[in-house]
Amino acid sequence: LEKILLNGELVNRKIAIDIEDRGYQFGDGVYEVIGVYNNIAFKLEEHLERLFESAEKINMDIELTIKQLKEKVLKLKKENLLKDGLIYVQVTRGITRRNHAYLDNKIKPNLIAYVLHQNRLPSEVYQNGVPVILTKDIRWLRCDIKSLNLLPNVLAKQNAIEKGAFEAILYRNDNITITEGSSTNVFVIKDKTIYTHPANNYILNGITRQIILDICIKLNLKVQEIEFSKSFLLNADEVFISGTYIDIVPVSRVLGEDVEFTNQKSITFKLMKELNKLTMSI
Ligand code: PDD
Repeated sequence: LEKILLNGELVNRKIAIDIEDRGYQFGDGVYEVIGVYNNIAFKLEEHLERLFESAEKINMDIELTIKQLKEKVLKLKKENLLKDGLIYVQVTRGITRRNHAYLDNKIKPNLIAYVLHQNRLPSEVYQNGVPVILTKDIRWLRCDIKSLNLLPNVLAKQNAIEKGAFEAILYRNDNITITEGSSTNVFVIKDKTIYTHPANNYILNGITRQIILDICIKLNLKVQEIEFSKSFLLNADEVFISGTYIDIVPVSRVLGEDVEFTNQKSITFKLMKELNKLTMSI
């Protein structure tokens, strides 16, 4: 029987969520998604560190140490015999009588975690790449927080899927700057230099993104963490997206635009190979 983690205890999945849990009513909470490869929770500590950072940014106290939570998450994984898939962890601010302000700093946060058994994407996806759409970034100005409020991301991804694309790449309305995907980071390569949006309030600083930047340093590849425009992306040599468990996925074309990234994905493939070594070896 499937077990979930509820405030530190492993319990059966069927639990009741209070209708006044602030996560349920306001999206008042934060979350993380961790990939599990062949029994190994990849970069678990980094993900939990980001969870605590997100919580701190919304003035929420998780009431556990990272080490304690790590142990409990690993127990959850073991109990459910998760070999390949995802671990989802979320913390909401807890239960209050409905009121936008939470007023009381002593509300007990609710932490849940559960596992999703899931296969990796098929190898053709990594070989051929995926189509994407470009769509307006209508999110708030604190995208560095991995908050439960995902409505703009949900709508963007739905729009992409309905159009036959794999991901929606977002651009800000003001100056047509590409920020990131609805649930991925975006990289473009032009003249052997790798470009990605700086890690500021406009994007989530992906764990995969950070690993890729480390690989670039190791391989002596030129990287620019700077803003770039929609037309820069459309004129790039290679484009790829990154995220937990999907790792690096090449972009083959942008639907609705007369562009295809048909040339060799040589740098993308090089980075994929290095990232694979990390996910498969540890
Ligand atoms: N999403 N940008 C956004 C908006 C994201 O939601 C994610 C991850 C990323 C990539 O971050 P990382 O490499 O740390 O997974 C970038 C997760 C997987 C999700 O919401 O399901």
